[in-house]
Amino acid sequence: MIKAVRGTRDILPPDTALWNHVETIVRDVFRTYNFQEIRTPIFESTELFARGVGEETDIVSKEMFTWEDGERFNEKGMIDEWVKKNQSGDPARVEPGRVNVYRTGAWLSELNRLGIQLHVLRGITVPPGSMSSNEEFVTFRPNVSANAIESLIRVRDEVRKKYAQDFGHSAISLRLVVPAEAAKGSPWVSTDEVEVEAFPGNYFSSSQSLTLRPEATAGIVRAYIEHKLGDRGLNKLFCIGPMFRRERPQKGRYRQFYQIDAEVIGPASSGSDSPARDAEVLEMLATLLDRLGITGWTLELNSVGNSAERVKFNEALRVALEPLKDKLCGDCQRRAVTNPLRVLDCKVPEDQPIIDTLPRISEFLEEDSKKHFAAVQEILKSVGIEFTINSRLVRGLDYYTRTAFEFTHGALGAQNAILGGGRYDGLSEALGGPAAPGIGFAIGEDRLIMTLAEKTPAESVLRKPDVYIAPMAAMNVAAARLARELRRHDLVVELGDENFRLKKSFEAATKAGAKYILIVGENEVKADTFALKNLATGEQIQVPFSELAAKIQQGRIQPG
Ligand code: HAM
Repeated sequence: MIKAVRGTRDILPPDTALWNHVETIVRDVFRTYNFQEIRTPIFESTELFARGVGEETDIVSKEMFTWEDGERFNEKGMIDEWVKKNQSGDPARVEPGRVNVYRTGAWLSELNRLGIQLHVLRGITVPPGSMSSNEEFVTFRPNVSANAIESLIRVRDEVRKKYAQDFGHSAISLRLVVPAEAAKGSPWVSTDEVEVEAFPGNYFSSSQSLTLRPEATAGIVRAYIEHKLGDRGLNKLFCIGPMFRRERPQKGRYRQFYQIDAEVIGPASSGSDSPARDAEVLEMLATLLDRLGITGWTLELNSVGNSAERVKFNEALRVALEPLKDKLCGDCQRRAVTNPLRVLDCKVPEDQPIIDTLPRISEFLEEDSKKHFAAVQEILKSVGIEFTINSRLVRGLDYYTRTAFEFTHGALGAQNAILGGGRYDGLSEALGGPAAPGIGFAIGEDRLIMTLAEKTPAESVLRKPDVYIAPMAAMNVAAARLARELRRHDLVVELGDENFRLKKSFEAATKAGAKYILIVGENEVKADTFALKNLATGEQIQVPFSELAAKIQQGRIQPG
């Protein structure tokens, strides 16, 4: 059995109802803050994340799904060139891309079955049955692998046998033509069985390194630069979708997970660097969590300073770590040299007392950053959003400047961050774009749902069928008409089948969780009045067709 890959999972009904419920509320709340949706590709060039998120982060250094794309073999180009060069005799008989079926006959399908494509049959002009010594089959391959040669040898033998039977002689040779690079410099490689011809020219398109997005911010800022979204002033964008990180899977941590990401970005003239934006984003998050019915969260806040302050802080950390680093875990020993800020992220319990002695970013903030951070806090207090300052909160991505935050929740255990975010005032410039301060966050949707599911079971937000239509014998047509009519009234209708016995229909209706069952028999259709039975109470009433939708709708609002 083929199973979902480790770290990925299927989200099945009824759970999907809870996901939709969350996303509907998210969209509702975001709309009232004037956010608009952006959809960026799921993969981007690797360089975007290396430059945006930072080479030294865990995400970029160990967790990305990256591959080389390209090295595509231009098969047609090579065949065309080869044919041009090798054409001899009657050109009409050289048919690129096609085997001369007249000659090859039935065994062509045998070759295909073996996965061998013969693109060109070159050479002879003689009719079948006559002798020829230069019959040659040519196949084009981007690479010469041992397998390719082995299977060609096998085919050659089969073809020979068949050929001898059909045409009375066995002269046939097989040649593999490959781009020169793939033949590793030798113009002709002969295995005594198959000749490999290295064909000059470049038939590979160049490759590029691509990566499944581990997060959304870099892609959104890329789109901001590419489409000059700064011309629109302040952009408030959100994006919901899958992200990919090769982390060790555990509860609340997946290799494909979902984020609800929002970003506020624009030229400074649009007010994008104002502390009012930071506070607005945080207040929106508090509102969203409240609307979802999630209580007991904690907002942890810090300022990680601007890039100049960060440089000084990093240097101070480097110096402070120098005599201490040997006592820290292996990762921290490396980080102490490459990116000391990351040491503050360390979760290894033994390291914590040492890390607690390190300098704090707050000591390195200059007046502007201090004022900015104080202004954010002031607004938050005035709108009644509680928070705690965590001076060790630096976040796992390198683009952050000034405000950084996380919302945590006790119910999540070790992976307790429901969401994280912050300011990234220099990111656009780091990616080659204009100055464009920004702030944003990403909610881990999987974790949000986990927190929510404790109180709100998926079943409770699932819309079950209002009515199950049970057609009696030969009543499928009438039932379909009825279903169409009821669905036009926005009722959820499940449709049975005329071959079901009534008992089976009742069972199916109950299993589907339908509120009513509607029996459609010949008499009912004639009388245009139907038996509508409430499956919970057992109450059954006769309802004229014209009143059916209203009656069922009524039942929906006042259950029972
Ligand atoms: P992040 O902290 O790397 O930030 O991820 C945000 C959230 O995504 C985390 O708090 C967590 O809930 C969830 N998450 C991360 N990794 C996993 C995983 N393997 N499985 C399940 N959930 C996970 C960012 O991604 C930034 N781009 C946020 C941001 C937006 N900053 C500014 N704008």
